[in-house]
Amino acid sequence: MDNKKRFYITTPIYYVNDIPHIGHAYTTIACDVMSRYKRMKGFDAYFLTGTDEHGQKIQTAAEAKGLTPQELVDKIHLNFKELWKVLNISNDDFIRTTEDRHVRVVQSMFKKLMDQGDIYKGSYEGWYCVPCETYVPESSMGENRTCPDCGRPLTTMKEESYFFKASKYVPRLIEHYEKNLQGVMPRIRYNEIMSFLHGEVRDQSVSRTTLKWGIPIPGDEKHVVYVWFDALINYATAVGYLDDPEMFERYWPVVRHMVGKDIIRFHCVIWPLMLLALGVNVPVSVVAHGWWTVDGEKMSKSKGNVVDPFKMAELYGADAFRYFLLREVPFGNDGDFSEAALVGRINSDLANDLGNLLNRTLQMIVSYSGGVVPAGALDDPLDVEVRALGEATVGAVDKSMETFSYDEALKLIWAFIGRANKYIDETSPWKLQKEGKNARLDGVLCTLYEVLRLSALLVAPYIPEGAEKIWKQLGRQGSVHTEKIDSFRWGEGAGTKVDKAEVLFPRIDLEQWKKDRTPQPDAAKASGAEAAEHEPEIDIDGFRSVELRVAQIVKVEEIPRSKKLYKLEVDLGYERRTICAGIKPFFKPEELEGRRAVVVANLKPAKLCGIESNGMILAASVKGGEDEQVVLIAPAADIPLGSRVR
Ligand code: MSP
Repeated sequence: MDNKKRFYITTPIYYVNDIPHIGHAYTTIACDVMSRYKRMKGFDAYFLTGTDEHGQKIQTAAEAKGLTPQELVDKIHLNFKELWKVLNISNDDFIRTTEDRHVRVVQSMFKKLMDQGDIYKGSYEGWYCVPCETYVPESSMGENRTCPDCGRPLTTMKEESYFFKASKYVPRLIEHYEKNLQGVMPRIRYNEIMSFLHGEVRDQSVSRTTLKWGIPIPGDEKHVVYVWFDALINYATAVGYLDDPEMFERYWPVVRHMVGKDIIRFHCVIWPLMLLALGVNVPVSVVAHGWWTVDGEKMSKSKGNVVDPFKMAELYGADAFRYFLLREVPFGNDGDFSEAALVGRINSDLANDLGNLLNRTLQMIVSYSGGVVPAGALDDPLDVEVRALGEATVGAVDKSMETFSYDEALKLIWAFIGRANKYIDETSPWKLQKEGKNARLDGVLCTLYEVLRLSALLVAPYIPEGAEKIWKQLGRQGSVHTEKIDSFRWGEGAGTKVDKAEVLFPRIDLEQWKKDRTPQPDAAKASGAEAAEHEPEIDIDGFRSVELRVAQIVKVEEIPRSKKLYKLEVDLGYERRTICAGIKPFFKPEELEGRRAVVVANLKPAKLCGIESNGMILAASVKGGEDEQVVLIAPAADIPLGSRVR
């Protein structure tokens, strides 16, 4: 296998002085998706994550908890391992920097650099940030001598130290990056690194005498190795730098590091300079992502707004959390996390677009074809168009994944899913069945099945649990995760017996969701429901004359002249129509779009604000004090659009 078909990807190794948060989850999920994708593309892919267990931060955290540093790291690193299980992370190895295999590599590299004169002893005096464990040059200090990264006050420090001759290798690194534009991604970070390299890169202090919790320097044990020098080496340790030259040969030439934008200097300057000095290839790419804020604010413990990935997975499922993080912001940009946005994506993209496509298709295969995918002729222009889009999507997704553009890849996949949903409306299989056009019906059902079979492969890296469920419902053998995307052949699914359709991503009821998150109004208000005002009795025929049907709100438009009305476009399965509804004060458009509702379908058309309204949406309402609460009436489970409500 040549290098083109090999892939090695790493996350940063995480400090264990803290519990895992959304930032840790984000990088790890992004790496997981990439390695799963590469495996499905036939790559020999290796995926490493782990924990950074030495240094001042850990020593301080242990002291605060009354533990030894070793006790602390033995305990806390398990949180990370547990989280990766919960989030379905498929890492091949988990490295801890306190492991013997790593300590030996660090000492051996340190010694090699010392022996060849690239590490020398000197003394260092400067402004130092204790929590960040970095000396800060005068030029980049914050106001009142504070750390530019964490904002805390700096202290002066003088210590005997070993130095790495970083400056010696800078011209070679510049030359390397000039020839390898993908060495740092995205471009904005590449430019940042190049301009840094063209400035003054000083020799780096790589040892400390001020703390104990680190790897001792061979032959001079009052020094321990500086935590970053120690940590960066983990990437080489794990693939056998010292112990397994064959493995190192296999994966090192194809290594990519994924990191947050805050730690690129270590990864794109210091680490490659160390590697050049050691005579080892520099990484193929360092890919930097942006930072998450939460509801528009910087995440911090003191604000109490740290997003707990365990909780997100428990509330919404690991798949939804994974999907959201990669779909919501272009990789590389900063993003803002909000649970409301996550719920929005679950309802529109997962429950509605993907879930409904699966459900509708399987139900039709069961009802119209005895549960077996028919071998239809797939030559109708619409079938050909959908197939061509599917095949083009595979190629386009691959291009996006090459540049780590996860959001682009997902947009492409969802455009394909959306096209298929539209194809159902265009071909109206229920009409074909009624009219006895069986050959055409077979073609449509087979096309839809193939769309889903291909979609399951495409979404598998992102939503591994959901994709496996789709695979099973489609009646496929084995696991979707051992499939190869490029072995997919359109039409080969015919003849498969499908499994029972089950709801994949249950729609989240927004009213209930909001209620669960807001303090309940007090009992007096809540029970302030108006005393029942009864209408005159009607007989059953009177009720039957009201044609109630299940519909979906597909579009919501403001009516500029009206404070109360929205112009809604609703889909009844067999047709779309406009309904004006007086629910504007109670819902934002995005809370309605994609929602199911029950409508009165045979109401006489009426003009409201100059717009013809063809029906009425049902809602329940209650007045509690000043506030009126309004809830849409919707079916409790998935049922085809247009179904009668009796
Ligand atoms: N131990 C070092 C890395 C050594 S790698 C040889 C470290 N650890 S960390 O636990 O503090 O941070 C790990 C990663 O989390 C970094 O890539 C950082 O960018 C990322 N994030 C921390 N907070 C974040 C957000 N709010 N948003 C996105 N990622 C952020 O640094």
